[in-house]
Amino acid sequence: MINTEIYLADIRKASRKGLIRISDTYEPEPGVMPFSNHIDWKVGTAVYPGVLSFTNTRPLYAAIPRILNYYRNSDVRYLELGPGAGNALFEFSEIARQRGVAAQIFTVSYTPVNPFAPLLLSGDELFPMLSDNPDMVIVETGAQGCLWRIQTEAVFRFQNEKGLLIFGESPEAFIHHQYIGDFCEEGIFNSQQFDIIYDMHGPLHRRQIEPIASAYAHLSDSGVMFFVFNAKYPPGRMMLEGARRGAIPLFRASDAVVVDPGAHCALVAREHSPLAARFEAKYPQRPQTVAASHMMEFLRWLDG
Ligand SMILES: C[S@@+](CC[C@H](N)C(=O)[O-])C[C@H]1O[C@@H](n2cnc3c(N)ncnc32)[C@H](O)[C@@H]1O
Repeated sequence: MINTEIYLADIRKASRKGLIRISDTYEPEPGVMPFSNHIDWKVGTAVYPGVLSFTNTRPLYAAIPRILNYYRNSDVRYLELGPGAGNALFEFSEIARQRGVAAQIFTVSYTPVNPFAPLLLSGDELFPMLSDNPDMVIVETGAQGCLWRIQTEAVFRFQNEKGLLIFGESPEAFIHHQYIGDFCEEGIFNSQQFDIIYDMHGPLHRRQIEPIASAYAHLSDSGVMFFVFNAKYPPGRMMLEGARRGAIPLFRASDAVVVDPGAHCALVAREHSPLAARFEAKYPQRPQTVAASHMMEFLRWLDG
């Protein structure tokens, strides 16, 4: 049996164990919480009801399992910014385990994920399963597909009634360090560095440049960072402009940067990363930034 109370009780247990740190000073940016927080969450006096939706259950981007191939049988410090309901993170932890990668997993988000009850399905799998549910709300059906949300409590009820596994059980915490607060707060990670940083519509998708600069400052010199940017905001425009010019001044000249101008996503590979080594082998005269009309095809070419 799972319900909101049990889910939140586990979060309190994880906080007592030191797996979750909650900032006492944060204020989510206006408009970010609705559709982002998968569990009922209170910040100050505001209470945000927890929903699962197309915006907080995206699957893990396929570049990450590909990049993990470079780290087989080694240790990796992985940071996901804005994990939403955490399904992509669980997918990552499972793939890492299968490939013998010992991953220390860190997150920063406005809402915590229960590290003992992972969401096992992505929104693409959840929606067909729940589309007839009376609690399902279709926000819009259009060119982007179906935009939907459903209260997480209704999903817990559905799981219990049908005897399905939507939220599973993880005897060991699958996330080791969660910071709940604003990613731009000072000193969240001090001088810690990460090998892979991943952000799918999280803080790096916002209008400020600081979160991208801050994430980059925590990328080790053999690290790789993937993020989706918002083309309407200044950082997104900077990424698109950099893709045209062959360089993005925010990153070092020795980095290898790939921007997919259509899908609005970017990969930044630091000089000593295995990905940058592939660049050197395949593309010795490359500029710092290359535009790839299809990120995954580009990565396949790089590996070939
Ligand atoms: C739209 S959801 C995306 C969730 C998930 N990555 C996905 O694509 O399904 C945005 C996520 O980023 C987090 N977030 C956005 N801005 C943030 C900030 N400035 N600091 C910390 N977390 C932030 C939210 O709490 C949430 O987890």
